[in-house]
Amino acid sequence: MCYRYFRILGIILLLFVAGCSSDDQQQEASVDNGEPYDITTLLATADPKKGAAVFKLCQVCHSLEQKGGFKPGPGLYGLFGRTAGTVPGFAYSKVMVDSQVVWTPETMDHWIEAPAKFIPGNRMVFVGVKKPQDRANLIAYLQAETKVASGSVDGE
Ligand code: HEC
Repeated sequence: MCYRYFRILGIILLLFVAGCSSDDQQQEASVDNGEPYDITTLLATADPKKGAAVFKLCQVCHSLEQKGGFKPGPGLYGLFGRTAGTVPGFAYSKVMVDSQVVWTPETMDHWIEAPAKFIPGNRMVFVGVKKPQDRANLIAYLQAETKVASGSVDGE
């Protein structure tokens, strides 16, 4: 992945050099990724259907249904509002249990962007979803799919 990124950067730089462009244009080429954004704003127009496609990256390891059980990762049913590392019976890493993170759209956004950075030493082997809009779509999808039905007897 890194290799691809550098190759693209390399091509862009080459184009700039070939065109005898100034230095600030070269800088512009690398700004792309770190643009500021507001997850709440992105969520307002997020598309859960597109989020379902992003969830394909997660579904080998996570179920969404109430009785979905564990795959390599814990079930995500009832995710929003609960504290990280609290699904009974799942063998979480210690850092996950100790994190005290409460799952909200904001914490999920950071987690999915770079799990290893957000909770260092955790056991979820996943590199992260780079585009903020993809994450917003995924979060919108998860909000809809993992919601505990009102009146549900066991809210696990
Ligand atoms: C290769 C398997 C794998 C993939 C892929 C994966 N996860 Fe995980 N996930 C895990 C494991 C294992 C844990 C528990 C980590 C720990 O205990 O350190 C976890 C933990 C989590 C948690 C915390 C759950 C809780 O009960 O606190 C969330 C939320 C989560 N993953 C969401 C996602 C999402 C969303 C994706 C896709 C973008 C994803 N995961 C992709 C394996 C995976």
